[in-house]
Amino acid sequence: MPDPIDLLDGLRTTPARRYLAETPIPDDVLWDLLDTAIRGPSGGNRQTWGWLVVTDPAVKERIAEHYRRGWEQVYGVRREELLDPARDGAADGLSPASFRAADHLAYHLAEAPVFVVPVLRHGADSTDKRLGGSIYGAVQQLLLAARAYGIGGVLTSLHLISGEREIDTLLGLPDDAATMGLVPLGYPVRGRWSTPRRQPVDQVVHWERWGGTRPRP
Ligand SMILES: Cc1cc2nc3c(=O)[nH]c(=O)nc-3n(C[C@H](O)[C@H](O)[C@H](O)COP(=O)(O)O)c2cc1C
Repeated sequence: MPDPIDLLDGLRTTPARRYLAETPIPDDVLWDLLDTAIRGPSGGNRQTWGWLVVTDPAVKERIAEHYRRGWEQVYGVRREELLDPARDGAADGLSPASFRAADHLAYHLAEAPVFVVPVLRHGADSTDKRLGGSIYGAVQQLLLAARAYGIGGVLTSLHLISGEREIDTLLGLPDDAATMGLVPLGYPVRGRWSTPRRQPVDQVVHWERWGGTRPRP
């Protein structure tokens, strides 16, 4: 049974979860998560999406190899710098703890019992800057619904750096489809549901015009 968590509590305390157990997720729960995800928004309610669910260990491992390569290329090469305790992780968002969690995920991705791959038809050659808006809201709904079941995950993309074509073929995607990410899901084995660190709201909100301020009551 899902946890009857308060909506705002859930929204405020669902960080990325990257330490995931191999424990399978029951199919009825997965259906419920996906049925909640597809209640999310899309432009003109066109719903040109598809939600691929991957549980086959061999397919997950093939995708994970690309993911590891992407991770090493973008972040792994900066391991020493990003793990330096003297560095201010808040400055560019990736604290040493986040780095360690992301590094763990990169080397254990295939252990997540389920990969959900959100796909957009007609997205392959799109130049629409707002394309992602027609699926990422629903992806977040997937993660929030998962949270109600005590299941964690994170939207990821690093596998696409080297693997987009091969993964599209591996998954049998139609030619016009774009893979919009990969969401590993599983029961968290480390960390907790907590409020994610962000820049203070008054530093990122502008009133009426860019730069406009207003005190928070
Ligand atoms: C477009 C996009 C791509 C992302 N790609 C990855 C990824 O490849 N690997 C990863 O571990 N996290 C990825 N993330 C997750 C972000 O790193 C995460 O949302 C951010 O660090 C905030 O995490 P927090 O909510 O736990 O603070 C991605 C997030 C977005 C929105």
